[in-house]
Amino acid sequence: MSRPDVLETLVSLAKRRGFVFQSSEIYGGTGSVWDYGPLGVELKNNVKARWWNAMVRERDDVEGLDAAILMHPRVWEASGHVAGFSDPLVDCKACKARFRADKIGDAQCARKPSKKPGEHTDCQLTEPRLFNLMFKTFMGPVEDSAAVVYLRPETAQGIFVNFLNVQQATRQKVPFGIAQIGKAFRNEITPGNFTFRTREFEQMEMQFFVEPGTDMEHFERWKQARLDWHLSLGLDRDRLEFHQHTEKELAHYARAAFDINFDFGGSLGFQEIEGVHNRSDFDLKQHQEFSSKKLEYTDQVANKRYLPYVIETSVGADRVTLAVMVNALREEAVPGEQEGRTVMGFHPVLAPIKAGIFPLTKKEGQPEMAEKLGAALRKKFNVFYDEAGAIGRRYRRQDEAGTPFGITIDSDSTKNDDVTIRFRDDMGQIRVATSKVAEVIANYLEADHARAEARLVG
Ligand code: GAP
Repeated sequence: MSRPDVLETLVSLAKRRGFVFQSSEIYGGTGSVWDYGPLGVELKNNVKARWWNAMVRERDDVEGLDAAILMHPRVWEASGHVAGFSDPLVDCKACKARFRADKIGDAQCARKPSKKPGEHTDCQLTEPRLFNLMFKTFMGPVEDSAAVVYLRPETAQGIFVNFLNVQQATRQKVPFGIAQIGKAFRNEITPGNFTFRTREFEQMEMQFFVEPGTDMEHFERWKQARLDWHLSLGLDRDRLEFHQHTEKELAHYARAAFDINFDFGGSLGFQEIEGVHNRSDFDLKQHQEFSSKKLEYTDQVANKRYLPYVIETSVGADRVTLAVMVNALREEAVPGEQEGRTVMGFHPVLAPIKAGIFPLTKKEGQPEMAEKLGAALRKKFNVFYDEAGAIGRRYRRQDEAGTPFGITIDSDSTKNDDVTIRFRDDMGQIRVATSKVAEVIANYLEADHARAEARLVG
């Protein structure tokens, strides 16, 4: 069964609530570049923090790195990007539009009446030509070919060229990994579908260096670990699948590759959000050759030297954040009410705001009590204070932001020093002593899916 297309609803909610804005919107926008608003930056930071914790902090065999975006131009010759990181393009000399030759069957000519490229009588399509996807710029004051540098199209190469630096600085022994989060740039020809395929995006990549011969065993382990991570974000199991690369899809250096696909619904359907690749020793071998620097690992116990194989896990921070938003969005009826509600049912750990704090009225010391509680909670969680409008509307606004708790201060609160906590997902409520609120939230966040048990702690 195919899921409905929610992208249009999501784009409008994302703008209205401050998750994602079009870049340079007041100038008409920049093609396929997006800005994260106040809620979006918190959500994406939470996704990245969860990745960093799982991949670096919780492991003693993976080290972190933050390599520069601008690298020596020879890096991209060694990696194969200068020669091979291209899409075949077809130009139309009549309307100046460009189409990916391998996707031209799905493309639409921009001219009216709407037709496929080549179907207007005056269309003049060229033969396909290769178009490199790397953004070029110049380093230093002179704009000549000697000064050309590229904006990195992937973060992985910063890891390969630092392999021995990290290994020697940390004295890690193979097998071990290096992980980083950073921007990457691709001059995509057919970008689109909101933040799914953009020209500027962030990757979260990890290269795990292993002894040749043990690579497939590590590959299988990482494949499962990465699927488990996506499940830990609250992505529905039946929206996730593995896609094994066929012979035709497999890069020439890869020994095996699986994509983790997520079902975005509508015509997009299942699409890659992460790649898990066995890259053999291709990259280290290339950099060793192009830099003329030995990149071999010395195994002192076994008294041998070798170039490790690499298992790569590569996931887009923006694409996973989009998957999290698509997965979270639901529109539902509310029993006893005419208007339904829109809810972003994020996993509480990912929610941009953890709690909304609402004094029921602006009298009886309620705002003061609410502000005091807000200030105390803010030291631990991102909370939002709101005293404007009817309480139902305030709840609805936080449902759309994906806030898992609403804390209401009413006239009993000031007398008894307690508050009501309302739960976003089932709108159930409990009464909790003010001093226990932080503990209830903390337990809930730690308990992941054990929502009912978490409530009892209060
Ligand atoms: N180092 C391997 C590598 O870069 P990739 O399959 O080209 O592999 C990995 O990219 C991930 O990066 C993808 O699964 C996707 O999540 C993300 N990604 C790639 N291109 C993207 C784009 N144009 N916009 C957004 N995310 C992108």
